[in-house]
Amino acid sequence: MLPAITARRSVFPQFFTGEPIAREVLEQLIQAANLAPSHRKTEPWRFRVYQTAGKERLQDELLDAYGREKEDLAGIARKFGKKIEQSAAVLLIFLHRDPQESVPEWEEIVAVGAAVENLWLSLDQYGLGGYWSSPGFVCGGYGDWPGAAANERCLGMFYLGYADAPELPRPRGDWREKVMFVSDN
Ligand SMILES: Cc1cc2nc3c(=O)[nH]c(=O)nc-3n(C[C@H](O)[C@H](O)[C@H](O)COP(=O)(O)O)c2cc1C
Repeated sequence: MLPAITARRSVFPQFFTGEPIAREVLEQLIQAANLAPSHRKTEPWRFRVYQTAGKERLQDELLDAYGREKEDLAGIARKFGKKIEQSAAVLLIFLHRDPQESVPEWEEIVAVGAAVENLWLSLDQYGLGGYWSSPGFVCGGYGDWPGAAANERCLGMFYLGYADAPELPRPRGDWREKVMFVSDN
């Protein structure tokens, strides 16, 4: 088993130390994501990286996406504001649908997942932690996210930070129940 696979886990913003992440490290993470496979090489992953003052902009965009007219806006602002504040950087994850639709959408969604997994697997070597968060109002339709192109839809956020988190059990169901080996005899 690759050590990066066993080390990968979700780390929540409450365990982030507050230390900023150098731009070069963020660039390395995106480069790892960019090495993911995609059918017909459509490379449908796109990221927006919000850090320092950019986090305020993210908060604004989140509230726009949620709907400024909604009654519980203040609660949403508090809930997400805290996680954003605790994070050194927050990535928005986008699906950039191939304009020619040369492959089915599911293949491009899966490719974005592979890209995020590459990034996630890369965190431990830097002492970083994070997790993929996919609230319903964030993951809208094409063009819904503020400033998104008509062929782009948001697939969630990835909170990032240097982490000091306790080891927690990461139980999984028995892999044997998830595989069928088929052979000649
Ligand atoms: C596509 C995707 C969306 C996720 N969305 C959320 C989310 O909205 N909230 C959350 O707490 N965790 C979310 N997670 C993280 C999972 O809860 C987490 O990966 C799972 O519990 C296994 O834990 P581990 O990552 O530590 O192995 C998401 C994970 C994936 C792959």
